Amino acid sequence: MPRIPRDQSFDSTLALLFDPYGFVSKRCRRYGADLFQARLLLRPTICMSGPEAAELFYRRDLLVRRGATPGRIQKTLFGRGGVQGLDGDAHRHRKQMFMSLMTPERIDNLKELTAGSWSVYAQSWAAKDRVVLYDEVQQLLTRVVCTWAGVPLPEPEVRRRTAELTALFDCAGSVGPRHWWSRLSRKRSERWIEDVVEGVRAGRLDPPEDSAARVIATWRDLDGEPLSPRIAAVELLNILRPTVAVSVFITFAAHALHRFPACRQMLQTDDGSVEHFVQEVRRFYPFFPAVIARARRNFEWNGYRFPRGRRVMLDLYGTNRDPRAWDAPEEFRPERFQHWDGSLFNFIPQGGGDHKLNHRCPGEWITIELMKASCEFLANSMDYDMPDQDLEIDTRRLPAMPKSRFVMSNVRPRSES
Ligand code: HEM
Repeated sequence: MPRIPRDQSFDSTLALLFDPYGFVSKRCRRYGADLFQARLLLRPTICMSGPEAAELFYRRDLLVRRGATPGRIQKTLFGRGGVQGLDGDAHRHRKQMFMSLMTPERIDNLKELTAGSWSVYAQSWAAKDRVVLYDEVQQLLTRVVCTWAGVPLPEPEVRRRTAELTALFDCAGSVGPRHWWSRLSRKRSERWIEDVVEGVRAGRLDPPEDSAARVIATWRDLDGEPLSPRIAAVELLNILRPTVAVSVFITFAAHALHRFPACRQMLQTDDGSVEHFVQEVRRFYPFFPAVIARARRNFEWNGYRFPRGRRVMLDLYGTNRDPRAWDAPEEFRPERFQHWDGSLFNFIPQGGGDHKLNHRCPGEWITIELMKASCEFLANSMDYDMPDQDLEIDTRRLPAMPKSRFVMSNVRPRSES
């Protein structure tokens, strides 16, 4: 039986923090294998990369999520008690709550709200010397998703709630004060949204029937009981936080339009091209580096032994650039998506497998549509200049981001014809 290659360091957590997007794939190449074992946060962890490893990772009979996510991620990014940590029937039932929000009509509604908001924001940018796109889009999306989800957002609270929702994903992976700000933001956000849930239940708030606030506040788990206010808040934040996080991909899309000017022309002349462009942005740029599970029982895979309880980490970024699945993976080529095979395991920026049965992101369609609306606006409805700035992608930060956060000046919305 082959032995899983071992990383030599006593603990590799610092190496992972230093190179979060390259850590797994570089070592897999070094060991000539799809997997290796390292000690991360003092726990032995099997790290894997590639489509075949992804297929294993989403086997529900072999891997589970309960107890897999490190506490520091639960106290910031995810919260405790949410869908991410459930398995089996409990997971399938809770996931249904999210999937019920993703109807074509609801997604179209969100896309329309977003397109309208771009017009309003672009007008306001015209009056400013320069704007930082990443920061502006966080606020734009906070307003949009609160409206869409039926969560009241009084004007004086917009800045504060934007900052708190952003801290949940933008500072969770940091160490030191940024991480502590993320923890504080989790506490504040949960208190805010618990009030909303209780308001809906008490009839003080009356969001639309098909809104996330109503659906989550009135959802009953398999035991027939409503979710506790705190868990309902965690789940409603599982809609608000990641929608604001689409600002990361939108900033990358703006970066790609700048770096690959032929793409901008393509978006201006060919309506069908925006989908491929957006998919290539999600494949090419680094965002969510990896996902974590635990072995449900002892098992063997390709001759390797996985002991029960062992933590397993799947490399999302490296799999999206695996040369076995992608030609010239380091090149930005939207047209590759004309011929993509639709595999559930080779293109996994938001997880793999089946949306209903696995933990794959239920917000994937929302992400794609918000990115499309934003790219169409950036390419066709406004002009802007790019002052001198450092556009290098900082891949030591989580999530990665152009160092300047994408600064625009002299913004000129085009008048509608
Ligand atoms: C910003 C772009 C996004 C990225 C990069 C992203 C990424 C991911 C990833 C990697 C997972 C975990 C997959 C796994 O564990 O196997 C996930 C799960 C999840 N995402 Fe997203 N996501 C995004 C947007 C969204 C949006 C817009 C929503 C909701 C409106 C959303 C809601 C969720 C939920 C609820 C889960 C947990 C699903 C489960 O455990 O079954 N995400 N996402």
